[in-house]
Amino acid sequence: GDVAVLVPAAGLGLRLGPGGPKALRLLGGEPLLVHAVRRLALAPSVGCIVVAAPVDGVSSVQDLLAPVAPVLVVPGGATRQASVAFALAAVPAEFDIVLVHDAARALTPPELVEDVAAAVRGGHAAVIPVLPVVDTIKQVSDSGIVVATVDRSSLRAVQTPQGFRRSVLEKAHASATDEHTDDAGMAERIGETVHTVPGSEMALKITRPLDLEIAALLLRQ
Ligand code: C5P
Repeated sequence: GDVAVLVPAAGLGLRLGPGGPKALRLLGGEPLLVHAVRRLALAPSVGCIVVAAPVDGVSSVQDLLAPVAPVLVVPGGATRQASVAFALAAVPAEFDIVLVHDAARALTPPELVEDVAAAVRGGHAAVIPVLPVVDTIKQVSDSGIVVATVDRSSLRAVQTPQGFRRSVLEKAHASATDEHTDDAGMAERIGETVHTVPGSEMALKITRPLDLEIAALLLRQ
């Protein structure tokens, strides 16, 4: 495969409740990170996987993933953005397409990875998977008063993996002055056009306790 995938997995996952780094929480008896990496490795495009692990967990994550797929493991940073930057720095020079994935999207199907990679290969320098927003979204003031109702038809919920021409992702990270929750946001900031492809319900982000229950149901299907 001609694609490298970065997997930031160094977050604490406090919103999931107590129990250690989120990427190492169990889903169907296996850590979320194992599920995520296994599915990435099943995508034919993927030739390199770099995981950013909790700083005190680099060797244990190496041991955990060795039977799953060949991976490089680097220490993560204080923020997701820093963890991505450290992982990006470890990608071998021959990979010109780089995807950024979240360990928390543990059930992301290999097909979605292929769709994103294909869009980058097809000429889009920045690509994100998106889904329509189901809830009505309102902007609310600090005091809890509705400021505006946003037109839902133009809104999309954004998933990972997000795909980039390597040079674009490097430039985005090198130019970032503030903190971003996703990599495409940094590409937008430097003026890149970000292309969308249809996302997947299976790529849900496991953030709160209910998400883990939902993921367990999906896994059993
Ligand atoms: O906390 P959140 O769900 O937004 O984290 C998204 C992803 O970024 C998770 O896979 C998490 O492990 C990772 N992350 C990281 N380093 C941090 C914070 C989050 O690798 N310092």
